[in-house]
Amino acid sequence: MKELEIQRAAHLLEQEFGSNWRAIAEELGTEGLRKRVGKDLTSFMAFPNRGNGGDSHWRGNCSPEVVSAVLRYVLDTKKYYGKDTSTFTLLDPMSGSGTSQYAANKYQVRSLLYDLNPAPLCGRGNWNALKNEVDDSADLIFFHPPYHNIIKYSGTMWGSPHPDDLSRCESYEDFLEKLNYCVRKFFFALRKDGRLAILVGDIRTKGKFYSIQHDMMRMGNFESFLVKGQFNCVSDSQTYRKPFIPIVTEYLLVYHKPDALMVPFSWKRNDQFSVTCVDLESLTWHHLIRMTLEYMGGQAFLSELYDFLKGHPKSQKNCHYQERIRATLYEHPSEYVPVSRGCFRLIYAVA
Ligand SMILES: C[S@@+](CC[C@H](N)C(=O)[O-])C[C@H]1O[C@@H](n2cnc3c(N)ncnc32)[C@H](O)[C@@H]1O
Repeated sequence: MKELEIQRAAHLLEQEFGSNWRAIAEELGTEGLRKRVGKDLTSFMAFPNRGNGGDSHWRGNCSPEVVSAVLRYVLDTKKYYGKDTSTFTLLDPMSGSGTSQYAANKYQVRSLLYDLNPAPLCGRGNWNALKNEVDDSADLIFFHPPYHNIIKYSGTMWGSPHPDDLSRCESYEDFLEKLNYCVRKFFFALRKDGRLAILVGDIRTKGKFYSIQHDMMRMGNFESFLVKGQFNCVSDSQTYRKPFIPIVTEYLLVYHKPDALMVPFSWKRNDQFSVTCVDLESLTWHHLIRMTLEYMGGQAFLSELYDFLKGHPKSQKNCHYQERIRATLYEHPSEYVPVSRGCFRLIYAVA
């Protein structure tokens, strides 16, 4: 058994480092090796040195190490459960510079690459995720879409502006709708026991933060959420006057398709409500009054509060709502200061 394991380790080292693996292994030592080879895919990845494969000059390209790591994991998992991998297929339906092909070649698996670009560096061009059929099926679909309009592909990286280019959507909502369509389409193209691995980053555009990974729909069993450090971004070299939290990570979301027909999914719903119209158990009189005072500029007379809150569902249920409002103001002296007869100010409001 031990002998077999050693053989397997040697095989993995050879795959990872090539024929010079013995010398490299000696230099790295066991701790370094543990972090670099085998099943050491963890929920955090960082590849400051991008590595070879694909084109590092193609804007928005990803490190081949990302595809390799997830491919290796899926292959290892299949082998662990005694599944056949002879027909294993990796599909990258938005393949850009062709990074996935390098990973597939490294692990000697069949790869299929598609892109809307009519003349991609490798794979099938002129393939439109919003219109064309996925002719093939796959065990792993590595899906790396544009991050909305952060990098425009058609018209800048290739050809002329294309209406179905995901980097040229009218709005973030339009982008999400098309992205979710792709998620469904690619999930249906998975074989049973397959995985959909989606690499996406959050974005800030015109000062607004959008979390693509948070907003997009989920399909299949959510198997892992990997955080990946971002390196060599154009934004790294820019300086900004307004304070904000820079985005330095992106995410690899891995979904498993456990069943041929049953599809687990979840969909995020965005909405908003006004606290003036709802009565929630978690919304106390205190914070309802506090927020109302904020709305009124930080200070108000009792009569103004009574008037403003008389139609609130809480008041509708309480015929003594005026007494309740008055009592609440006195019960929280750390938040409300009486400024004159029947007039209250929030402690943190600018006088
Ligand atoms: C982030 S890049 C992929 C980069 C790639 N992983 C690499 O390492 O080079 C996204 C790709 O999606 C392609 N794309 C955009 N809209 C598409 C569509 N509707 N159908 C197919 N590909 C599309 C773009 O042409 C671009 O090459």
